[in-house]
Amino acid sequence: MQASAIVLAAGEGTRMRSSLSKVAHQILGVPMVRFVVDSVHAAGIARVVTVVGHHAEAVSAIVSDTEIAHQERRLGTGDAVSRAREAFAGVDGCVVVLAGDVPLIRAETIRTLVDAYESSETACVMLTARFADPDGYGRVVRGPLGRVAAIVEHRDLRPDQGWIDECNVGVYCFDVHELFDRVARLEPANTQGELYLTDVIGMLVADGLEVDAIETAEPEECLGVNTRVQLAHASRIMQRRINLSHMLSGVTMTDPDLAWVSPGVTLARDVVLEPMTFLVGDATVGEGAVIGPSTRIENGKVGSGATVERSVVCDAVIGDRATVGPNAYLRPGTVLAAGSKVGSFVEVKNSTIGEGSKVPHLSYVGDATIGHDTNVGAGSITCNYDGFEKHTTVIGDGAFIGSDTMLVAPVNVGDGAMTGAGSVISKDVPPGALGIERSEQRNIEGFVERREAHGPDERKA
Ligand code: UD1
Ligand code: CA
Repeated sequence: MQASAIVLAAGEGTRMRSSLSKVAHQILGVPMVRFVVDSVHAAGIARVVTVVGHHAEAVSAIVSDTEIAHQERRLGTGDAVSRAREAFAGVDGCVVVLAGDVPLIRAETIRTLVDAYESSETACVMLTARFADPDGYGRVVRGPLGRVAAIVEHRDLRPDQGWIDECNVGVYCFDVHELFDRVARLEPANTQGELYLTDVIGMLVADGLEVDAIETAEPEECLGVNTRVQLAHASRIMQRRINLSHMLSGVTMTDPDLAWVSPGVTLARDVVLEPMTFLVGDATVGEGAVIGPSTRIENGKVGSGATVERSVVCDAVIGDRATVGPNAYLRPGTVLAAGSKVGSFVEVKNSTIGEGSKVPHLSYVGDATIGHDTNVGAGSITCNYDGFEKHTTVIGDGAFIGSDTMLVAPVNVGDGAMTGAGSVISKDVPPGALGIERSEQRNIEGFVERREAHGPDERKA
């Protein structure tokens, strides 16, 4: 049987106190609802309908690989599900319904739920958990024979139901027809005046159908995120889950609580992540590379044996054995060839630095191509912007750029050429030549002695 899924993501998330939709809040650089959709897909469910409402456009963009249904007014989780009805016209089988605010849910768990549904004769199998603090969760009320009878929301619990610790985690597998038939008949008979999806359970049972519950062995994966405190808690759990899997695959983390690695990041064996390291987006790190301490890498590639210390790297490619930092800033379009070096307080943007070339200290390299085995002296800068447009600098192989050279682009420095320290180079330097732009130095003999003899008053005169 082919399962599909509905992800509920229309709520405002008032408890987040945010101008952002709750499900757009990020965990390790990834919006919460993205984790949910990815887990559903990983469970083998291809068809996903996301119900959006609050900040519909922003949320739709996050889950653009799903079908979108709109809930205009936030009338409750039951109403949200009914907004997906059209998308299921003519569809049979089962549908997994889950909220966009359970980012830790694992694909295996969704799969288990669907398998349990398929091997049973029930109208719904729901996932439950027992939490140390069940506050805020709906509770599972069971009948005299121990079968699921209904779900009662936390705020609607009667005093004699307060002891129930089996919680509804908001993840269900329903028969499509039974589900849409019931959500169409929901009534807002509760303290919030909302149409509760959870009431569908009681309705199914009242109609003589069966509902099963599977209790998760790992309650933390069912954590619903309603507040920023829960967001931080979920982030910590996700961080540990991801780090554990990297460590077991051969990555060293000096302090795993101080390494943040996004789910899309690939780390090879023997990578070392020092403390305060953030690897986010689509980043790949090669074998034996050492990252950190205090480094942020967003997208891009780090080659094997490279080191990146105390630096910020964004959409850059760092070659094998290249060294970066401490305190470098590699911006989009940076390509460092194998064995090259970008040292301390160096910023590089949209530039290629050739094999074995070095920019060791205090430089800005923008819109430049630097050949192999070239040395760029301390304090040198490519003046790539004339106030209107950006221009390129091309430096050949084996060149030597003297310290504090200003390369006024567009400009070329040929293979094996040199520039004199302190020069403002605005004309091309041919291969093998020295480009020097500097007024001649004058030495005034005996100056210091004379100045001391005359004293400060005379100096003024
Ligand atoms: C819900 C369940 C509760 C369960 C808990 C698990 C209901 C009535 N209650 O409560 O039993 O223990 O999840 O985390 O279902 N949403 C919409 N449209 C709406 C309202 C909500 O799309 O009109 C979406 C929200 O964006 C959210 C999800 O539904 O992703 C759940 O809504 P939320 O308000 O967080 O429900 P809970 O109070 O947590
Ligand atoms: Ca919730």
